[in-house]
Amino acid sequence: MEFNQLLTAMVLEMDRAPDIVKPSKFWSDLNEQHGKRLGEGGIENFRRTLAKDYFTWMRVLPWDSQIRFLVKTLGPVTTAKCAAMTFSNPFHDRIPMTESLALNFLTRLLWAYASRSHPELATLSEPQFGNPPDIRASGRLISQDLANSVLEFASYRSAVNGTVYELGGGYGRNAYVTAKLASFERYVFADISPALAVAQEFIRHSFPNDRLFGFRPFDSYSEIADEIENSRFVFLLPHQLEMMPDGDADLFLNISSLHEMRIDQVDYYLAQIRRLVRPNGHFYLKAWESSNNPDKAEQINSTDYDLSGFQQVFWRTPEVQTRFFETLQMRAA
Ligand SMILES: C[S@@+](CC[C@H](N)C(=O)[O-])C[C@H]1O[C@@H](n2cnc3c(N)ncnc32)[C@H](O)[C@@H]1O
Repeated sequence: MEFNQLLTAMVLEMDRAPDIVKPSKFWSDLNEQHGKRLGEGGIENFRRTLAKDYFTWMRVLPWDSQIRFLVKTLGPVTTAKCAAMTFSNPFHDRIPMTESLALNFLTRLLWAYASRSHPELATLSEPQFGNPPDIRASGRLISQDLANSVLEFASYRSAVNGTVYELGGGYGRNAYVTAKLASFERYVFADISPALAVAQEFIRHSFPNDRLFGFRPFDSYSEIADEIENSRFVFLLPHQLEMMPDGDADLFLNISSLHEMRIDQVDYYLAQIRRLVRPNGHFYLKAWESSNNPDKAEQINSTDYDLSGFQQVFWRTPEVQTRFFETLQMRAA
């Protein structure tokens, strides 16, 4: 299916989805902009247009908590080197000048930090699909997405096996890194459009030899069970999760996503996650310690997530994004 047809098919299916999974006003407004940006730059440039609203930080100020953490940990010499390198290829097509500079600086700091303790970062190559900003170290493309995904992967790697689910995975940065660094049978990816369509194309290009169950409408699991069970990557709209069997997930990931939803949506998704994660399976959650739902001025704090039915493996402040929390939870047997 051509990319624009895929987007249209998703929009039509979302129309018949229950309200509880429909994007909040914040996300429908953002998705409208994403639709325009995709229209202008195409899927070919999504790493410079859409991806900056997922987990790439381009509007950071010197007192930002991430910069403070990195500068303090790396020390003045590495920081000065990163600052000097910021100007080696200062501006990126399609990205405003000040955002380009902030992007360069934070990416170099983050890469220096993550490379120190995670040698596997050096084994990963930056996918070219989507035209990522041209930031290089020793001639190789580097990015915040690879570095952040490797840091997160280190937090949940012990739980990767069997079937991994991810809700709100953006364009698929964690799916990419998890598939490169670990083995699993299947990765089930659920998101709204256009993220779902972008992720599907990104993974298709990144793993051309793997069988992929691309998004399509269906009414029951039995209709698509054979195909899904023979696929390594599966792409679903969020309401289709309801049709997946109880206990199907060995590991469920949600990163920087639930906190942008309405409280009723957060509760709904947590109930689905509780149903889908098998006994002794795991749930990894990373979110802002405290965030304001832009729609309703509702504040969501880390203690508002109903994790009943899970036992805590760890709960801590992640490296770098020190205003977030990350937790690994195990489903009670
Ligand atoms: C800030 S982005 C983070 C993306 C990705 N986890 C990352 O860290 O790169 C938030 C994600 O949540 C998804 N999302 C927003 N509202 C949603 C909803 N109602 N149901 C499912 N996913 C949603 C967005 O499409 C997006 O992929």
